[in-house]
Amino acid sequence: MQDQHAWSGRFSEPVSELVKHYTASIGFDYRLAEVDIEGSLAHAAMLNRSGVLSDADLDAIRRGMADIRTEIRAGQMEWSVDLEDVHMNIERRLTDRIGDAGKRLHTGRSRNDQVATDIRLWLRGEIDATVGLLAELQQSLLDLAERHADTVMPGFTHLQVAQPVTFGHHLLAYVEMLARDAERMLDCRKRVNRLPLGAAALAGTTYPIDRHYTASLLGFDDVCHNSLDAVSDRDFAIEFTAAASLAMLHLSRLSEELILWMSPRVGFIDIADRFCTGSSIMPQKKNPDVPELVRGKSGRVVGHLIALITLMKAQPLAYNKDNQEDKEPLFDTVDTLQTTLRIYADMMRGVTVKPEAMRAAVLQGYATATDLADYLVKKGLPFRDSHEVVALAVRHAEQQGVDLSELALPVLQGFSALIAEDVYTVLTPEGSLAQRDHVGGTAPTQVRTQIARHRARLA
Ligand code: ARG
Repeated sequence: MQDQHAWSGRFSEPVSELVKHYTASIGFDYRLAEVDIEGSLAHAAMLNRSGVLSDADLDAIRRGMADIRTEIRAGQMEWSVDLEDVHMNIERRLTDRIGDAGKRLHTGRSRNDQVATDIRLWLRGEIDATVGLLAELQQSLLDLAERHADTVMPGFTHLQVAQPVTFGHHLLAYVEMLARDAERMLDCRKRVNRLPLGAAALAGTTYPIDRHYTASLLGFDDVCHNSLDAVSDRDFAIEFTAAASLAMLHLSRLSEELILWMSPRVGFIDIADRFCTGSSIMPQKKNPDVPELVRGKSGRVVGHLIALITLMKAQPLAYNKDNQEDKEPLFDTVDTLQTTLRIYADMMRGVTVKPEAMRAAVLQGYATATDLADYLVKKGLPFRDSHEVVALAVRHAEQQGVDLSELALPVLQGFSALIAEDVYTVLTPEGSLAQRDHVGGTAPTQVRTQIARHRARLA
């Protein structure tokens, strides 16, 4: 009787249909096919160099794998659930093609170190792609920030108008966040980029392997130095998903703001029609569906993080089948983050800004009250007293329905004799901005300096 499974020699009955489907991972891990082949070719080359595999066998493996790769790329590979996972599907296909040489490939290796290697190879490529997409979104935000380095908008605390900022400055806050997200990804990449292969099932192998050689063939910076750890921990996947969660959280914050700004009640921006949808019943509606979905999808990625953390928690050494469950959350995290970044970069190019509405909101909110207080302090009044003076002036302006900058000089002087004609340079939003002229401040010259710094960093 032909073995159903590579491992079924000692079993007296085949697994039940239900169990077969329950334990199979081919339904999702076929995604690792290309890196699985890459890892196998490096392993075979190492075995050959160490004298474990003949030249003829290595040649046959190389030819067989090249054909299988072509077949996979052409969508012609038939994945079988009977063969459980991507590793055994490819190995069986190889053996069908080249015979015994295919059966020798698995010498000194286990699926445990094989799958750990595959995930690391795959994730390394996806980290690089994600960092590229993060850069693209940052560029798109920088373009918009540059056009609005001088555009006055209200800065908020507690969602209430606080002090004037520029729209460019506001956008740069997100560039900072995304820059840290990329930094986190690249830091995580260092720990992803280590080779588990050679750990075999858990204890290492009796063959004279050269793990550093395999590592160099696969572009790994180092090998994992403990075989038990190498096959069992998925902390690198958790780390990546945590970094991805933070990136999604940042995008959920920007999404919330876009939704708010686009609300007709606020009217600061408009988002191009191609990112919005209408209502099937209310003809007047234009809904910001994309930012809303991003906000929603951020929850999904955080969910994957929790799933992976919970998966790893309390697992005894070394490999346990639990770890097969690492793939779907990881794959979906990558897919969700990458498509979100792609669509976001394009959406930000489709944002139209309404500077008059932003400026009007600044004036309505007495956003320069702090500037008046600072002005009085610079003229010698203690801050607590000046806070009081300005509160009274704001109350008066509010009663008159005007902005502080619209109060006549004698009226202002009624609140403090220290006030002179030069007060108007700080009471206007532009005056308020210009004075915050230090690193990290909102003055338009500082905003331009930061834009240049980011551009140089991303170049
Ligand atoms: N499909 C398995 C996984 O994803 C491969 C490793 C299986 N190893 C084992 N001893 N059952 O983790």
